[in-house]
Amino acid sequence: AFEVELRRSGRTVTVGEDTTVLAAVRAELPSTPYSCEQGFCGTCQQRVLEGEIDHRDELLTDGERGDSMLICVSRARGGRIVLDL
Ligand code: FES
Repeated sequence: AFEVELRRSGRTVTVGEDTTVLAAVRAELPSTPYSCEQGFCGTCQQRVLEGEIDHRDELLTDGERGDSMLICVSRARGGRIVLDL
């Protein structure tokens, strides 16, 4: 499991092995956009402020991967990431 801080909202959620960042975030922020949930549409892209990302999509360019992630499939590499949400 790892933690995702939603910095603008002042909340932190825990993402277990059996769930996604998207699901954990939507439990706190139900209007967070998504569509395919499989890492190919880009709807769920969010800006990452801190932390190392484990990218699991096939869509983002290396440039985009520097500071954003598709939260339906990608995860944190360390124990914690911070999103601009
Ligand atoms: Fe489509 Fe995440 S919802 S890439």
